[in-house]
Amino acid sequence: MPAMGRIFVTRALPFAALDRLAAEHELDVWEGDLPPGPDALRERLATADGLLSLVTDPVDADLIAACPDLKAIANMAVGTDNIDLEAAAERGIPVGNTPDVLTDATADLAFALLLALARRIPEGAAQVRDGRWRTWEPAAGLGADLAGATLGIVGRGRIGDAVSRRAEGFGMEVLASSRRSGVPLDELLERADFVSLHCPLTPATRHLIGHDALRRMKPSARLVNTARGGVVDQAALREALIAGEIAGAALDVTDPEPLPADDPLLEAPNLLVVPHVGSATVRTRARMAEMAVENLLAALAGRPMPYAV
Ligand code: GLV
Repeated sequence: MPAMGRIFVTRALPFAALDRLAAEHELDVWEGDLPPGPDALRERLATADGLLSLVTDPVDADLIAACPDLKAIANMAVGTDNIDLEAAAERGIPVGNTPDVLTDATADLAFALLLALARRIPEGAAQVRDGRWRTWEPAAGLGADLAGATLGIVGRGRIGDAVSRRAEGFGMEVLASSRRSGVPLDELLERADFVSLHCPLTPATRHLIGHDALRRMKPSARLVNTARGGVVDQAALREALIAGEIAGAALDVTDPEPLPADDPLLEAPNLLVVPHVGSATVRTRARMAEMAVENLLAALAGRPMPYAV
């Protein structure tokens, strides 16, 4: 049996998988409902052998340098832009993530947002709730058809592919673009009726969707982002929505998160923002916890992580 290690878990996780971790290691679980701030993270991680982190926890080079015992980082997410992977690699600390298990849930959410925009669901629901629905009207609440429309998928990974399969079921034409393959991004933006983002956040994709990209989109086109907030330049998006350069946007991810209630973006019309729930289904989150636990158990026993980045 490998030596017991100390693992800092950055939030209480109500998943059975944690019991397996607790059976072999000492768990130090952050007690707050909100994520630990930078000082608390540093203090609690200073003597830890392992870290179970969430997308809300920035793990940068300074933090890694301040944790001499740290031997494994398991991020309970597929994205790892919150972690300085280079700094971890330099220290020989393996980093794990949770791919595949959240692909369908995230693709479902992208489609839910796309449909909500296309059929103006938030607007209609608010009308009923506020007592503003007077009668069935021949030309009110009209949205866009999906069948025959073109969906542009930015990022050709697992989630982009899963969205593409859904789009085919809805009779859409699909264009996909990545840095290395598919149709050029400019062409995708010019031809698509809906654009859905599925690329990781990297220096190359930060603000990929800015003024120029938004101007290339059709005025009738709608944007969906379930990737990372930083892929979209939110100031440019606000202007584009106000100026009618695009017809709508739905965001599961923003920069920052949470988006303050008084953020100027929220003043823009035809905008739907939900609170980073792409992977938020009962089954998916339980599986993500299992994978994070398996990554830590393996790494702390000196074995390769099964789901290493
Ligand atoms: C969530 O955003 C994830 O990367 O899993």
